[in-house]
Amino acid sequence: MTDDIIKKIMDIDKTFYKEKFTFEWYRKRNDEENIVFCLYDKNELVGYSAVSGIKEKLYNEIKSGKYKNDYKFDYKMFDKDSPFKYLSSINILEDYRKKGFGTKLLNKTLRYFKKYNIIALTVSRGGYALLNKKMKLIKQVSSDVSVFEN
Ligand SMILES: CC(C)(COP(=O)(O)OP(=O)(O)OC[C@H]1O[C@@H](n2cnc3c(N)ncnc32)[C@H](O)[C@@H]1OP(=O)(O)O)[C@@H](O)C(=O)NCCC(=O)NCCS
Repeated sequence: MTDDIIKKIMDIDKTFYKEKFTFEWYRKRNDEENIVFCLYDKNELVGYSAVSGIKEKLYNEIKSGKYKNDYKFDYKMFDKDSPFKYLSSINILEDYRKKGFGTKLLNKTLRYFKKYNIIALTVSRGGYALLNKKMKLIKQVSSDVSVFEN
């Protein structure tokens, strides 16, 4: 994930997440080589799906329902070479939602990582609806937070 992509992702995230994160926060969890699937309208980035490698310990903790969000994941638990993957975010600008683009981004992501374990935490109704189509619900952490696995 290049610096330029991180800056564009930050702009998209600002439109949805209440919490604000610094460039450093993104960079520490996204190596230059981290995979991001991008949705463009002409030359403008309008959505993305991002995946990070994480250590097996963190993977199992997420799976057990330990976390309600990922804001405070320890940077040391990220490892781009790990076979355990974390779908850290799928976010699409509002004007482009509910048109099937989320499904396309998720399909591409799951296809690319099909040989790996991939886990995700959903924190929104849209996220739940999307992941519930293609992944297995393995834990309901709270009324609005769920864990999905491939
Ligand atoms: C989640 C998100 C990526 C889904 O993308 P999308 O392009 O709207 O998804 P799709 O159009 O492919 O729709 C996928 C399914 O989810 C459903 N869905 C989408 N948004 C929904 C919502 N807010 N509430 C309920 N269902 C929803 C669609 O109806 C569709 O179901 P169907 O295939 O049975 O008709 C998009 O809504 C988004 O960016 N939301 C803001 C960020 C976010 O919540 N990210 C996930 C955090 S865990």
